[in-house]
Amino acid sequence: MALLTWSKKYLTGIDTIDRDHQALFSAVNELHTNISDGADAEDVEKTLNMLVDYVDGHFAREEDLMQSCNYPDLVEHMRIHRKISHQVRDYQTTFEENGQILDMRSFVEFLGNWLKGHIAISDADYIPFVKKANTDG
Ligand SMILES: [Fe+2]
Repeated sequence: MALLTWSKKYLTGIDTIDRDHQALFSAVNELHTNISDGADAEDVEKTLNMLVDYVDGHFAREEDLMQSCNYPDLVEHMRIHRKISHQVRDYQTTFEENGQILDMRSFVEFLGNWLKGHIAISDADYIPFVKKANTDG
C-alpha cells in the first residue's frame, strides 16, 4: 500500500505548487515501494536522487513565489526548507557510501509525515499572500 494518499485537502489552488506537491507524494511513495519490495540498491539510489533533485527544485520554485509576493516569513520558511534538504542529502550521502540505510523505512515515513505537515501548515501560510498578489497585480 502506498505510504501517502493524495487528497483535495492538500490542494493550494496554485497549479505549479499543486503539481510539485503531487510529484513529491509520488516520489516518496516510489521510495517507500522500493524499500518494501526490497528493490536493489541501484533502484533505491535512483529514486533517492530523483527525490533530492525534485525537493530542491520545488523549494526554489516556492521561494521564488514567496519572494515575488513579499511573503513576510520567507526567511523562516527558507530555514525550514534548508533543514529538511540537508537531512535528505545526509541520507543520500549515507546511501552512496554504504549502499544502504539501516533505518530507511523510518526515514521515508519521517519524510512522508514531514511533507504532509509542511503542506498543511507552512505552505498553507504563504498561499494567501501569493493569491492576494495575483489578484492585486
Ligand atoms: Fe514549503
